[in-house]
Amino acid sequence: MMFGKILIAVCLILWIRFLWNRRKLYTMLLKPSGTMGLPIIGVVIQNILFLRGKMKKRTPFMNKYGSTFLTWMGFTPVVMTRDPNVAREVLLSSVCLNRNEHSANAMALSMGLGLLTLQGAPWMERRKQMNPAFKQNVLLSFFPIFNDESRALVNLLNSYVGKGEIDVLPEIIKWSFRISFQTTVGTDVKEEENFENDTILKSYQSLVHITSLYILLPILRNKIVSKLFGFEKRRERAVSTISKTMDNILDKKMRSHPESNPESEMKIIIERGIELFRIGEMPFEELKSECGSLIVAAFETTAHTVYHTLVLLAMFPECQNIVFKEIKDIFPMVGDFEVTYEDLQKVPYLDRVLNETLRLIPSVPISVREPSEDFRLSNGVVIPKGVLIVIDIFSAHRNPDHWGPEADNFNPDNFIPENIGEKHPFAYIPFSRGKRNCIGWRYGTLSSKLALVKILRNFEVSTSFRYEDLDFVDNLVMKLAQVPRLVFQRRT
Ligand code: HEM
Repeated sequence: MMFGKILIAVCLILWIRFLWNRRKLYTMLLKPSGTMGLPIIGVVIQNILFLRGKMKKRTPFMNKYGSTFLTWMGFTPVVMTRDPNVAREVLLSSVCLNRNEHSANAMALSMGLGLLTLQGAPWMERRKQMNPAFKQNVLLSFFPIFNDESRALVNLLNSYVGKGEIDVLPEIIKWSFRISFQTTVGTDVKEEENFENDTILKSYQSLVHITSLYILLPILRNKIVSKLFGFEKRRERAVSTISKTMDNILDKKMRSHPESNPESEMKIIIERGIELFRIGEMPFEELKSECGSLIVAAFETTAHTVYHTLVLLAMFPECQNIVFKEIKDIFPMVGDFEVTYEDLQKVPYLDRVLNETLRLIPSVPISVREPSEDFRLSNGVVIPKGVLIVIDIFSAHRNPDHWGPEADNFNPDNFIPENIGEKHPFAYIPFSRGKRNCIGWRYGTLSSKLALVKILRNFEVSTSFRYEDLDFVDNLVMKLAQVPRLVFQRRT
């Protein structure tokens, strides 16, 4: 009897302590609007809402609760915002440089440690180390790869002419994967069987899929549960295929001297990593996982950007014709032609179309930060350590307060200099902003534009899919619920 009473008293004290430790959280719950205060109910409602991932459902939610609201992911409170002022404060703060621990750990399980998964001081150090690998002269040296792979893609699209509506996304993903692999580790990867027969691409896709599941359902990260559902085996198989291929490539690279390297004119990202490894600043395992990390960050994002641009131009033929005329002025002849960096500076309308595509369908739909200490917003709300902040890029880009009542419509003129010049600088953030922005944003833009120039000069693209029927699914990389198929007709 006595023991029972002591037990109840201890439980009560622990419960009060738990509540006391979370007092800042409860204070915060009273400030931003949202479905505050009822985590369990919130979990159910929100998860049904978000796990289905239909992004458009967030809009009425934000219209009701305001541009910044509180929600729950599992038992973790989340401040979600589409307000550019809040986005600016978060993305520029030195307190908000970390991705959320849970996603970083889930990614690290499959991809190891790299820019995507490192946190705190080690991330800062790595970012400094890797920034030189994305300088202008390095990007310029990638043009032969961009041109070669885009030529191969155009040749393949030629075989689709007269075949009706085609699901072209898998081929664009292959194009993007081949580019990101070669610019990361060198063109000699083409000698690897795993690369040429797409085994390694499938391994990466499998890892990305498993990582998304690990993020959505943390229970799967438990080895026993993961084994039970067969994910552990798939993960191990994929990691082993990637690791063996990387070992082969790195082994050859380490043994060759840079001067005797036939690619010495071309800088590749791994060279920076090898340099750091040789001076003892990057362990071998991290060199491998950094390459993997960069490939993962690059290929799906870029592929979806190109694909979404083609889809929107297929839906808006009058815009496609303007792009076509602009490209034809520079490249009067159809077929194959070499595209230079200078050529890509002469297509301002294509720039607008690409920006408008990334506004309406940003390949990375959210940016998540976990403050390393309590974080005070300028409106006085303190976001306690442990609460996640989600910058909802998708909704920010469609925020009617900043993009007007036509925010959901496709209109490349949003990016005419005088129009975009008036906008809040954080109303358009497809590559995020601040110190932890996308390291590959210029690379992604250049390779996408180059492929689009080649494709749109050679083909007229159309689709029977309607713009109004597009539905967007939240994921590591944003997907379309139904993938529009495209028709390719030859241009003259
Ligand atoms: C059009 C294509 C791309 C888009 C839309 C895009 C978008 C983004 C966004 C929004 C982030 C920030 C995510 C966050 O805040 O958590 C990010 C991070 C990152 N991106 Fe990209 N990206 C693209 C292409 C690329 C390419 C081509 C590369 C590499 C070659 C790359 C490498 C990375 C890396 C390494 C990070 C993490 C940076 C860090 O944490 O320091 N991305 N990207």
